[in-house]
Amino acid sequence: MILNFGKDWKFQLGDASGAEAVKFDDSSWRTLNVPHDWSIEGVFSDKNPATPGGGALPGGIGWYRKSFQISKDELEGSVFIDFDGVYQNSEVWINGHSVGKRFYGYSSFRYELTSYLNPGENVLAVKVDNSAQPNSRWYSGSGIYRNVWLVTTGKTHVDHWGTVVTTPEITDATAKVKFTSRIKNNLKEGQKLMVKTVIVDPSGKEIATGKMDSNGIKDSIQSVSFDFEVKNPVLWNLETPKLYSAVTRVFVDGDLTDNYTTPFGIRSFKFDVDKGFSLNGKNIKINGVCDHHDLGCLGTAINKRALERQIELLKGMGCNAIRTSHNPPAPELLDLADEMGMIIMDEAFDMWKKPKNKYDYHTVWDDMHKKDIQDLIRRDRNHPSVIIWSIGNEIPEQGDSTGISMAKELAGYVRELDTTRPITSACDHPNTQNFIIRSGALDLIGYNYHQNDYAAFPQTFPGQKFISTESVSALMTRGVYDMPSEEIRRWPVQKDWKGKMPNADNTCSSYDNVSAPWGSTHEETWKVIKKHDYLSGQFIWTGFDYLGEPTPYWWPSRSSYFGIIDLAGFPKDVYYMYQSEWTKKDVLHVFPHWNWTQGQTIDIWAYSNAEEVELFLNDKSLGVKKKQGDDLHLIWKVPFTPGTLKAISRTGGKEVMVTEVKTAGAPAKLLVTADHSTIKADGTDLSFVTVDVVDANGIIVPNADNLVKFKIEEGTIAGVDNGDPVSHESFKAPQRKAFHGKCLVVVQAGEKPGVIKLTANSDGLPATAIEVKTN
Ligand code: GAL
Repeated sequence: MILNFGKDWKFQLGDASGAEAVKFDDSSWRTLNVPHDWSIEGVFSDKNPATPGGGALPGGIGWYRKSFQISKDELEGSVFIDFDGVYQNSEVWINGHSVGKRFYGYSSFRYELTSYLNPGENVLAVKVDNSAQPNSRWYSGSGIYRNVWLVTTGKTHVDHWGTVVTTPEITDATAKVKFTSRIKNNLKEGQKLMVKTVIVDPSGKEIATGKMDSNGIKDSIQSVSFDFEVKNPVLWNLETPKLYSAVTRVFVDGDLTDNYTTPFGIRSFKFDVDKGFSLNGKNIKINGVCDHHDLGCLGTAINKRALERQIELLKGMGCNAIRTSHNPPAPELLDLADEMGMIIMDEAFDMWKKPKNKYDYHTVWDDMHKKDIQDLIRRDRNHPSVIIWSIGNEIPEQGDSTGISMAKELAGYVRELDTTRPITSACDHPNTQNFIIRSGALDLIGYNYHQNDYAAFPQTFPGQKFISTESVSALMTRGVYDMPSEEIRRWPVQKDWKGKMPNADNTCSSYDNVSAPWGSTHEETWKVIKKHDYLSGQFIWTGFDYLGEPTPYWWPSRSSYFGIIDLAGFPKDVYYMYQSEWTKKDVLHVFPHWNWTQGQTIDIWAYSNAEEVELFLNDKSLGVKKKQGDDLHLIWKVPFTPGTLKAISRTGGKEVMVTEVKTAGAPAKLLVTADHSTIKADGTDLSFVTVDVVDANGIIVPNADNLVKFKIEEGTIAGVDNGDPVSHESFKAPQRKAFHGKCLVVVQAGEKPGVIKLTANSDGLPATAIEVKTN
């Protein structure tokens, strides 16, 4: 049985001597549920040792304790505690006995508790030490920030991550499914073991069964394999990602001792030297993004609905892939990618033995790298969404001959456990001198940036396969427009370049005209990727803004500008460029807003996938435009006069879409919209509520920064945000200033069905309330 173990932990921020002891008095500690990230509750300061690069929030030491009951029956079997991730440097005690330490905050791990447990009450204690900083180039969060599970089985059971499913042959008529499970035996003399595995199809029907009887061997691990044939397989793909499952039941003398489900998908894919990537025989571009693991105002505390919303937003622009930069993701991300149809590049490390920060993973490299990478592969290898393994990002050993043996060693560890997926490493020096590439260990040559070298890839690396592991690094602040829009700003790289470029108020323009000097605008890279079939695709830096790395600025900025979507989850304009290119939806997105100074020349851009667009200002035509050559947007330069901009797109002379942008008056009311008006009363489900500051006609006021105060009845406020990378307001306060007319409040369900009432107030505007049902 698997039990979510998130409820009712005691927590204290700061070290506590002796807190591992059963009798320790934690009555004054705070009670909370995990997943929990204590850093996100903190106060921004450039004095915090994480530095603005790490999000400018506090780290430190935290203790968690939890009392729980175990029955006599459960003690007949085996009891485990599974942590999906603790950031970082954790130690776990059960009833005062240390059961293990784990440094890497992104690894999942299990401890067996059985021999230390008592019938009745037991105490688990966890110390998390995230005080040695900086240890990350982005915001890490601190604490038990992923789920915890209590797993109880019989003494004879499927070993941890003990099943492997592969689908070596797939035709329209049949798919071969190879299944292996590792069974941990604890049989007494004469006892009989029976292992049965049933394949369940996407409709829930049992379609094949494998059975094995044996006498077993006491205290051993036994591998049990079955070969199945699935008739008329329903393939996993990005549009209809259907999942099968293998349900393994273990019996000892006829008694069920374990029941273990392994979801899997039937799909084939290929990277081709000339034709790029194909899934189930169909060529597609990998149109992916890189993302870090924070969830904006929720910090890094994992929440499945928050992750699901991220994927929905990404799919909405036609994105089909995520790189888990630069570390193993939460298991829920992979479950959702399986269920929703997303390709995953699963990445192990941001550094190997050579450091990027004083206290980062390099400090434990020698002892831990084999275990950490193998645990990642064991945990993730049955997910159909996982298509590429990455053994590292911009690893300094690229420039050092040790890179050869290290790359070979790591790739070897991966291939011991999985040979069905290609291995890459994200190279910021993708040339023939690169020691990681020279090792020959990579199946895919991973380019970070160097977009001007893509065209020569077949000459530089003849016979090799390409993936752009990281691209673009363009920067934007939602709602900011610097003209002339065709002037591309890339700051000079110099020692003191921080804070120099491009704007004095720490903003970047949203015209897709600011990029890091090593990167490109969004359009620049997409034009190249689009052109050549052998370029299998790219992972854009980044899908979402993330906490930390406020390049090109530094303090007072504390979060990044690279996202196609801001930290609050509001799309920036370029989202619609991708939507116009990557989806079949009709797109006509016109920007900027229409509140400027009389007579000022304004650059009006339109992203559209129709043949032509005609623009009108106050009903007067400003002309029809068609994209020429490889253009990705249309532009008009127009002297401002207030009123209505209206764009009409047409294909074959027929009107396809109409989009209007109107001059807004003064703020008059709040428009409050919940993404889900009914959520589950499970204590974790969320509704993302957007507040727009609008004028009397309902038009969003583009520069409104009104402070909006929230009152909530029933549920709780999980976080607030507005996407402003410079704001130092608390993510946990029941209020937020609007930023360019918008802010977000995340409403969390309680456990009782009912109605959550949220009221938004802002000085001088009428209060607005909405209801979210919980059931
Ligand atoms: C890359 C790096 C990313 C991020 C990005 C910013 O070189 O891999 O982690 O730092 O630069 O442009």
